[in-house]
Amino acid sequence: MLKVDVVTAFPDMLSAPLSQSIVGRAQKAKVLKLGFTNPRDFTDDKHHTLDDRPYGGGPGMLMKAEPLYRAITKLRKKNSVVILTSPRGQRFTQALAKKLAKKKHLIFVCGHYEGIDERIYPEMDMEVSLGDFILTGGELASAVMIDAITRLLPGTFKKQDVTASESFEGGLLEAPQYTRPEVWRGKRVPQVLLSGHHKQMEAWKREKALELTKKYRPDLLEAQTAFKASVKPSVKNKGKTKADKPAAKTPQKTKKQTKK
Ligand SMILES: C[S@@+](CC[C@H](N)C(=O)[O-])C[C@H]1O[C@@H](n2cnc3c(N)ncnc32)[C@H](O)[C@@H]1O
Repeated sequence: MLKVDVVTAFPDMLSAPLSQSIVGRAQKAKVLKLGFTNPRDFTDDKHHTLDDRPYGGGPGMLMKAEPLYRAITKLRKKNSVVILTSPRGQRFTQALAKKLAKKKHLIFVCGHYEGIDERIYPEMDMEVSLGDFILTGGELASAVMIDAITRLLPGTFKKQDVTASESFEGGLLEAPQYTRPEVWRGKRVPQVLLSGHHKQMEAWKREKALELTKKYRPDLLEAQTAFKASVKPSVKNKGKTKADKPAAKTPQKTKKQTKK
């Protein structure tokens, strides 16, 4: 079981999204244990003040270091990893989600207002960013990361291979997927996916995953030389397998043609 504590002055920003769907079920199944700690509970003044004006001037207010320090100190155990949500941190990726999914205890610290007193930073084991944009607080960033990590915990999904073919696994985007009906507005499901031929279906998926990755995220392929070598024969085929052909026979109608 992974224990995750979130240090936040705005727990409601996380509790709703994390109580639903897969993450909610993971908690019921005791795969994930989630706790919220409010740094306001670690203030001394009667107004429970968390923020103050920045020295040297500047817009907005900063979170004070002491309430956060006390909250982290209370939660931290030997095996804890303390993660500050921060725009200047390392970028959150599927690879980092996998690493964090192997830990026993994560503590996410949510900044708010214009940020946090710089002196708290050495208390962190790592700083993680969701991307090059500014959020109002670390709450939504933490919720996103907890969601991604929970999907990777053993026991979250009944079938462990659910996440194995997802985008970024093996450095590729996921192959296109289809569900019923077989023909939707003139567009057919590729014949190979109806064939029941497991090997052909897997080969098709790998080729399509490679095609999509080349088109949308060629940067992912640069780090995948080893994988590239293993799929070279399919690349020579320019992405067309025998199994692909029946689907190509059915002309794909344009939006105009299907509109009545
Ligand atoms: C309004 S932001 C502060 C931004 C700060 N003034 C700056 O320019 O870097 C408040 C808090 O939201 C969180 N945050 C904002 N953007 C984030 C991002 N891209 N990734 C992770 N956390 C973020 C951080 O915890 C941050 O302390």
